Amino acid sequence: MLLTLGMHGRGGHQMPKMRPAPRLIDPDTLAPFVDPLPVPARAKPLGTRPGASHGALPYYRMAAREISHKIHRDVPATRFWSFGDSFPGMTIEARKGEGILVEWANELPTRHLLPVDHNLMGAEADKPEVRTVVHVHGAKTRPEADGYPEDWYVPGRSVTYEYPNEQDAALLWYHDHTMGINRLNVMAGMMGLYVVRDREEEALRLPSGEFEIPLVLCDRLLRTDGQLYYPVSQRPEAPWIPEFAGNVHLVNGTLLPYVEVSPRQYRFRILNGSNAFFYFLSTSSGLTMRQIGTDQGLLAAPVPVRILNLAPAERADIILDFTGRSGEQLLLQTGPTSLMQFRVRQEKLVADASLPATLRSIPKLLEKDAVRTRELTLEEFDNVLAEPVTHLLAGKRWHEPISETPVLDTTEIWSLINTTDDVHPIHLHLVRFQILDRRPFDVTEYLISKRIRYTGGAVAPDANEAGWKDTVRASPGAVTRIIIKFEGYPGRYVWHCHILEHEDNEMMRPYEVLPGEHRLS
Ligand code: C2O
Ligand code: CU
Ligand code: CU
Repeated sequence: MLLTLGMHGRGGHQMPKMRPAPRLIDPDTLAPFVDPLPVPARAKPLGTRPGASHGALPYYRMAAREISHKIHRDVPATRFWSFGDSFPGMTIEARKGEGILVEWANELPTRHLLPVDHNLMGAEADKPEVRTVVHVHGAKTRPEADGYPEDWYVPGRSVTYEYPNEQDAALLWYHDHTMGINRLNVMAGMMGLYVVRDREEEALRLPSGEFEIPLVLCDRLLRTDGQLYYPVSQRPEAPWIPEFAGNVHLVNGTLLPYVEVSPRQYRFRILNGSNAFFYFLSTSSGLTMRQIGTDQGLLAAPVPVRILNLAPAERADIILDFTGRSGEQLLLQTGPTSLMQFRVRQEKLVADASLPATLRSIPKLLEKDAVRTRELTLEEFDNVLAEPVTHLLAGKRWHEPISETPVLDTTEIWSLINTTDDVHPIHLHLVRFQILDRRPFDVTEYLISKRIRYTGGAVAPDANEAGWKDTVRASPGAVTRIIIKFEGYPGRYVWHCHILEHEDNEMMRPYEVLPGEHRLS
């Protein structure tokens, strides 16, 4: 029997038309450390407006627009879609217990900057090409203000969300969450920081003001004309790719910036805002990083880290001490690649408060308090048409009925059974959680028998993960267990892989928090 070539894919087309390869920037040819590190501008409220429950609340308007932004002195300006005049967008500063209103406006053009794949769920050809909906990652909000992926709206429209900020100080971030094009909207620039502050944290007198610097890290592919490039598959009718990888790293939207610092302690608040890149951060010249916080705020105590692993969407709060390093030039790197330079000024040390030995107490969630354990697979779905691989959560697609329905104020354990070869950063909306452990198992045996046979002992989370998290690295070939108390509000939220290419292609599921029992007294 004769096998017909070109049977892969829909429509039995012949050889795929190859798109001409774009000319990409070679970062090694650019002068490093010629641009100062910018810090995203702070959003200012436009006044107050009545909130749903709290009377008058500060009102912000954040409009996504097409902007032009210089990422490097010698690279032509890049078109971005941003909530501000540069990329990343403006930073929102909030205080615990003080709610705010944000009107998220879509003032984008009607054609997308990047190639939309209409085969993906939610991005079908009958949907408008440019749509947006914004989620504040890590925020405890009502479901109607959470940026549900299907609640998108088109250019010219906006929605106003209320953020109660009834949560501990932490570095949150906002980003687009639109069904089927989220990876493209975020890549185009639709993200920024959302800082929650509180008295407890302020009482620690950590470095603040000019000594507290946010670092938004992300990779991008840039063409020689300075424009963003998002690669496509070999099949023009199905351009989705399984994972994006850039040719440059940006720090606060700048390629290889430098920052001048004084010989003292600084607090750096780091976000991995990449679609799919995992950072392994280190500093040159033996400068120790002391991590004081993770996704959902401060750790119990500072943790020295030599190499800081940050998956997409994870955050780290880091103290770097430049004391005694006057005149030195140090680097922040990921693996062997430089990200930015610190230039320590020739200054005498002005007495600098030392770092507290303990930061806060973090009550441990106890396994015995969990009302149930859910076994949830992370798996590759082998497509008969040999299409690029789709990843699924618990074997289900987005549109299948909701299967995870925790009850408000109860505690559950979610066992993330990763049968794939990839680390998937798994994020749950609404809640914060703790990591219990990771334990290797026999994947082949599991795929055949659906029974877990462990091949090693349970490994406790790293010291710098032993705080409140909202995103966890689920290791390949391991069961990663997290323990979650479903506090907040009843209603529909989502959980997903934060590799945005996976998320856009079915590695996201709705879940629903059911109202707790209402006891009449
Ligand atoms: Cu960072 Cu569902 O998001
Ligand atoms: Cu989130
Ligand atoms: Cu994934």
